[in-house]
Amino acid sequence: MCFIDLINDNDRIYNFDKMYNRNNNLSNLKNKINKNKKIVLAPMAGITDGKFCKKYKNLFGMVCIGAYDLDKDSQIASEKIVNRGRKEFLYNLDELDDILRQNITEAKESGAPVSVNVRFKDINKSTDNIKTILQYADIFELNCHCRQKEITDLGIGQELLKKENNNILKNYLKIINELNNELNHGRLNHGSSTPIFLKIRANFISANELIDNLNNVKDYFNGLHIDCFYPNKNYADLDYLKEIRNNFKDKVIIGNNSINSIDDAKIMLKYCDIVSVARCVLSGNTGWIKEMNHKTEKYI
Ligand SMILES: Cc1cc2nc3c(=O)[nH]c(=O)nc-3n(C[C@H](O)[C@H](O)[C@H](O)COP(=O)(O)O)c2cc1C
Repeated sequence: MCFIDLINDNDRIYNFDKMYNRNNNLSNLKNKINKNKKIVLAPMAGITDGKFCKKYKNLFGMVCIGAYDLDKDSQIASEKIVNRGRKEFLYNLDELDDILRQNITEAKESGAPVSVNVRFKDINKSTDNIKTILQYADIFELNCHCRQKEITDLGIGQELLKKENNNILKNYLKIINELNNELNHGRLNHGSSTPIFLKIRANFISANELIDNLNNVKDYFNGLHIDCFYPNKNYADLDYLKEIRNNFKDKVIIGNNSINSIDDAKIMLKYCDIVSVARCVLSGNTGWIKEMNHKTEKYI
């Protein structure tokens, strides 16, 4: 399939619009995402903050900042992770509200809508920061992806995908939705609150199990950001992605993993709405994204 076929595929574009129209929370987002820009900056802890994002002016369709820890338990876990040499965002939790606002504002200087990826253990201690994100960001992204032991020992990150933790995930999402609705009553554009996304990892559990578990909470999220992680392979598990796409047709799906070129992105875009990239940005391989934006703009 050539590039023009892909982006002029009427069914796909129609589906994308139909999905937004069916979902009030997404109608606002539709106006913010530039249709020409199908590539999103994925979150990288300790790296993707406002300052990092604003270096990439008009490149991405969306930028993700974080992961930010919203409570003490998750921040202590991050301190331990830093102590063994990995990057994380560390800060005084009393200052987090200001830090979030400042980083969202700075990230918006990239010209793209901003998603904030978060982790927390105790949602009751995280509500003020959740509200700040719902108020200022364009997407709230709950991290159900992290596999660092210090985080999974708390039963969060990718552990939230397991059946035994499905009620915890549901409770988190219910509370986030309640806060979203509360805030929405005070908004001028009533009826369009902040979209809630889940960042998930393929192959931690089987696609069927994941679909069952996500179906139990499907009323509480608008989009899935899926790392198509394929154990022992250096390419994405597109069959897994396809299963998720087919079972969640009314959700926005951001595909992710090992995308390094227009060709890689085109293949993944058959099974998702947008594609995100992390490591290729770190290695400075972003020329193809500019080229892809230009081509899409020309032909769409
Ligand atoms: C250094 C680094 C830090 C990351 N931190 C996060 C994070 O905080 N939250 C998250 O959801 N994913 C995180 N990820 C995963 C990426 O968002 C992405 O899913 C993964 O790197 C696969 O995409 P890629 O092949 O384009 O790098 C991180 C990845 C890297 C390389």
